[in-house]
Amino acid sequence: MRVVIFGPQGAGKGTQAQRIAQKTGAEHISTGDLVRAEIKSDSELGQKIQEYNDRGDLVPDEIIIEMAKPYLAQTDAWLLDGFPRNEAQAKALDDALGDLGFGLDAAIAMEAPDDALVERLSGRRASESTGRIYHVEHDPPPEDDPGPFTQRNDDTEEAIRHRLEIYHEQTEPLKDYYDERGILVSVDATKSIPEVTEEVLRAVGEDG
Ligand code: AP5
Repeated sequence: MRVVIFGPQGAGKGTQAQRIAQKTGAEHISTGDLVRAEIKSDSELGQKIQEYNDRGDLVPDEIIIEMAKPYLAQTDAWLLDGFPRNEAQAKALDDALGDLGFGLDAAIAMEAPDDALVERLSGRRASESTGRIYHVEHDPPPEDDPGPFTQRNDDTEEAIRHRLEIYHEQTEPLKDYYDERGILVSVDATKSIPEVTEEVLRAVGEDG
């Protein structure tokens, strides 16, 4: 299973990728997590990309492509969350997979209107100990997750709106890109978290 999952900020890409990975054993590769880990390490690269992340801008293509590439060959079952985000990245991904001798099985587009997304993101919390994503109302942390639970630097209303603009301008056209290649599957991301998981599992042929 080699699948990309994309959609507007807050559609639930990370939430679903974590759940599908847990249910299928596939690897969850999140370029957002890679970016945040690099920033947290305070490396030279981390310092360089922090301003892009905090503003809600895309990290330059050449940097993010080099960050993502090594993970593609590590296992034969993965969900790529947050990459590609524009046509240049989609082509770089096709090239990298071509070099490795395989292709994508599906590109999942999570569909949800912008209005629902700002509310979801402002209630988002991530566990620093487990990396799990929660929502204060829709998906509160269970008692066995010790936390602490933190908000992301880019979950300010200004950065969220900016990220959504970039999504519509640069990432949404990937629907046509993958549709033309016959691997696009659209999923209604406004449903409850478990319902969306069922839809995604069906889309990747893992619904038992
Ligand atoms: P990234 O971490 O990928 O952030 P994003 O794209 O802004 O997406 P989000 O994580 O905000 O949304 P999500 O869809 O994963 O939502 P989630 O599941 O958390 O990227 C961060 C930054 O890194 C970028 O801005 C950029 O700077 C850089 N970057 C990363 N990749 C890059 C690339 N390829 N190129 C260049 N730069 C890159 O859910 C959100 C909330 O909603 C949660 O609280 C969740 O509990 C809740 N929720 C989820 N589903 C539901 C549901 N069905 N019902 C109710 N609530 C729900």
